[in-house]
Amino acid sequence: MTSLLVLNGPNLNLLGQRQPEIYGTTTLADIEEACRAHARRIGVSVSFHQSNHEGALVDAVHAARGVHDGIILNAGAYTHTSVALMDAVSSAEVPTVEVHLSNIHARERFRHHSFIARVAIGQIIGFGARGYTLAIDAMVDHLGQVA
Ligand code: DQA
Repeated sequence: MTSLLVLNGPNLNLLGQRQPEIYGTTTLADIEEACRAHARRIGVSVSFHQSNHEGALVDAVHAARGVHDGIILNAGAYTHTSVALMDAVSSAEVPTVEVHLSNIHARERFRHHSFIARVAIGQIIGFGARGYTLAIDAMVDHLGQVA
C-alpha cells in the first residue's frame, strides 16, 4: 500500500489558535483526521509528524527514505530559510509535495521565495486546511504516473 508522510514544521502545532484570520480555525489534529479519513477512502496509508526544530525535520525527511513513498511537507517558516531542509528533500529522494495553508505569494515579500519549491514535485498553496488532502491526491496521482 502506498505510504505517505505528512510532515509539518514550526508553529503549525498552534493551528486553530494561531492567526485564525490567516490560517483558519482548523487544528492540526483536525487536519490529521481529515487526511486519515481521506487516505482510508482512497486506500493509502498516512503517517504524521510535526516539529518546531529544523534538525528534527531534516531527520524526519531522512527517516522517510525507503519507508514512505511520498512526503506532504508544510515546512512553515523554514520554507523561506532552510537550505538544510531543501538538501534533505533532495538527498532523501522521496517525492515531496509542498503545502501552505495561506497564499504565500499574496503575503510579505520574504514569504514569496521557497527553498522547498526547488526540490518539490509541486506546490498546493492557499487552499487552507483542504490543501493537505489535495496534496495527497496530487501525490497519489504523481506516484501512479511514475510507477
Ligand atoms: C505557512 C506559510 C509560512 O510563510 C509561515 O511561516 C507558516 C505557515 C502556511 O501554511 O501558510 O508558518 O507555511
